[in-house]
Amino acid sequence: MDYQWYPGHMTKARRMMQENIGLVDLVIELCDARIPLSSRNPDIDALAQNKARILLMTKADMADPARTALFQRYFEEKGFMVIPIDARTRKANEKIRAYVEKACAAKRERDRRRGIIGRPLRAMVVGIPNVGKSTFINSFAGKASAKTGNKPGVTRGKQWIRLNKNLELLDTPGILWPRFEDRQVGVRLALTGAIRQELLEEQELSLELLDYLQKEYPALVTGKYAPAEGDAQWELPMDNAALLSRIAQARNLLRTGGEPDYQRAAKMVLDDFRNGKTGRITLETPSAGGNDRE
Ligand code: G4P
Repeated sequence: MDYQWYPGHMTKARRMMQENIGLVDLVIELCDARIPLSSRNPDIDALAQNKARILLMTKADMADPARTALFQRYFEEKGFMVIPIDARTRKANEKIRAYVEKACAAKRERDRRRGIIGRPLRAMVVGIPNVGKSTFINSFAGKASAKTGNKPGVTRGKQWIRLNKNLELLDTPGILWPRFEDRQVGVRLALTGAIRQELLEEQELSLELLDYLQKEYPALVTGKYAPAEGDAQWELPMDNAALLSRIAQARNLLRTGGEPDYQRAAKMVLDDFRNGKTGRITLETPSAGGNDRE
């Protein structure tokens, strides 16, 4: 889905979130493991007050595993239950279910004391656009799940997906609006495809990416684009535009006359990163900024 975040949309998303959050015991928040800070919206902390919380780091299959481990610890120290996942698979489902029970233990106990037994827990999935909400709901709920609640056409209302007798999931995820007052956060959201990149030209964005990759993952850059190992022409770091030009030449992306086609090279570099073809890359570290204002 394509979102442009005008204030009106944000207000609507916030209203929906407030309305739906009131119906659940647990909030399953998704962040992108490649930009765990920039892909979170800290407003969720206020919205989900008093709810049990779980944080899933999606797209961990494309992120740098060492950084993912650092971030997992970072969020755990903040009190979250954290699971890195590939939302396209069902591998983590059992662990997630166990965490749901753990996160809701206090709620279960309160219910028990009030004599409420066997009421299923209700959960909702939240996150910024493209973080993997629908993908996760499909994998987590699977085919076996049955929708409960109102029949179509009879009444308006919420659809709940019954996962088992203990757990129901709201079938519409909560959409959090991305925050990008900080330019670097905007760049990271555009690089991962969370926001449309009109904000920045493709070429400018690709130079931002190359700048970061040269510093943090130089071997991945040469491994991916240098025609041969140990070529002195490919010694990094170099000027970012010069690197883009080298990449264009190496891939034969040339304009008539033999000039490097920067535009096509930029698009290729961005696509390679977004599709995980450059390697497993994380664009931030726990200490290097994002939307974390705590
Ligand atoms: P949303 O509901 O939060 O908006 O996100 P959605 O599930 O639609 O997922 C967005 C894209 O991200 C999808 O790609 C989906 O397959 C991919 N995706 C979600 N979770 C993961 C994950 O853990 N690992 C990987 N590798 N990919 C994931 P798509 O349908 O191809 O869309 P797009 O790439 O054209 O945006």
